[in-house]
This record gives sequence, C-alpha cells and structure tokens, in this order.
Amino acid sequence: MKQIFSGVYSSNGKLFTRNLVPGRKVYSEQLVSKRSTEFREWVPWRSKLAAAIKNGLRELPLRKGATVLYLGSSEGTTASHISDIIGGKGLLFGVDVSERVMRKFIQLCEARPNLVPVLADANKPESYREHIEGSSIDLLYQDISQKNQAEIFNKNAALFLPKEKTGLIALKAKSISQRESPKKVFEKEIAVLEKEFRIKQVVLLQPFEKDHAMVLGEKR
Ligand SMILES: C[S@@+](CC[C@H](N)C(=O)[O-])C[C@H]1O[C@@H](n2cnc3c(N)ncnc32)[C@H](O)[C@@H]1O
Repeated sequence: MKQIFSGVYSSNGKLFTRNLVPGRKVYSEQLVSKRSTEFREWVPWRSKLAAAIKNGLRELPLRKGATVLYLGSSEGTTASHISDIIGGKGLLFGVDVSERVMRKFIQLCEARPNLVPVLADANKPESYREHIEGSSIDLLYQDISQKNQAEIFNKNAALFLPKEKTGLIALKAKSISQRESPKKVFEKEIAVLEKEFRIKQVVLLQPFEKDHAMVLGEKR
C-alpha cells in the first residue's frame, strides 16, 4: 500500500482507505487486510471523489480530525471513505434532501460516530445553520444533480466555509443543460464559482462518469 494522500492508499491501480469499522462493508467494496490493518477498496465507478483522484486531483485537504460539510451525501458511499480518512476525531455533516436515502445514511451514522445526518435542502443553508455553526469547516464537498449546482455551492460557502479553505464540487453537465456542450456548461458554472472561489483545478471524470467534472477551489 502506497499512501498518496493523507489516509488514501494505492495498490495495483486500486484506491483504498483504512476501514474505521473493521469487518463492515458499506457497499460492494472489497475488504483487504495488510499486516493486521483492514483497508476498504474505494471504487471510482461508485464515487466521484475517487474518480477525481484516479484522474489526477492534485490536492485533497483531508486529514485525521478534519471537519467536512458534504452536500448531497446520499446513502454515504463517498462519505464513508471520507469518514475513514478523517478518523474518530473528525466530523462530517452529511446534508441530503431525500428522506429515503437519509434513512440509509442514518444507519451508516450509527456505525460511524464521525458522521452527522442533516435532512435538509442545500438550497436553504439558513435552515441547518444552527447544526453547523460552532464547527470550523475544512472542506466543503458537493455532489448534487440540480440545475443551480454552482449557486447552491456558493451559498453554502459564503455561510460556512472560512477564507482559504477548500471547496470540491462535482458538476454534472446534463443536469444543467441538455442542449449546450458539457465544455460550455462547465465554463459557465466555473464563472459562477469564481465569485466565491479561486479555481485551482478542473478534473474531468470520464471514463468513470460521463459529462462530469470535479472542480477544486480555494475560498476567497
Ligand atoms: C449523485 S447523488 C450523491 C452521491 C454521493 N455523493 C456519493 O458519492 O455517495 C445526489 C444526491 O443529492 C441529493 N440532492 C438533490 N438535491 C438536493 C438538495 N437541494 N439538497 C440536498 N440534497 C440534494 C439527492 O437526494 C441525492 O442523494
């Protein structure tokens, strides 16, 4: 296992995180034990963050003890790997608007005490402000297939993300426009993101995800 970012490992072309809850899988990932440590495979076909790492993401501002605000946490596939990386002293607030996926996420939170469920609409960050305030966010992460993806991200960044901290957003071109080319859509969304962020890198996610890009920015 070669460590490529804090808490992220690579072996034979596959990505792994150290399993915070040994013996337990979260989705259909492989569990691998090396010298009495258990690792979980981080599958880029299932997680856009893993896809971005595979495709050359240069920075991942996560470490043990980090605090993350995750918009669109869904059932927690990607959140579970962040949970592995930030460890028992870290904290991840997972916001999702769907009660159905939140029920699954709450089960994951029971097994992983560093995950906190927030059932809310990320368009209305004021509605969950009281849960987040008091925690200093190190990373704002978003994976939400809505037309106003960049606007949602900016609103949350303005309210919760301290200056110079990092934002990572997975943009899905087809949720924004079926008509315009993905390249054009990404350019327009990035122009919106530039109001709140200095853009540092744009990583296209194919072949893992078609017409998706991961954008890395630093809060202005
Ligand atoms: C593509 S899935 C996220 C997958 C997840 N990030 C992962 O990698 O495991 C998008 C999620 O965004 C949620 N979502 C859509 N609109 C939302 C909104 N306005 N506020 C919060 N969550 C939203 C959906 O319910 C869905 O669970």
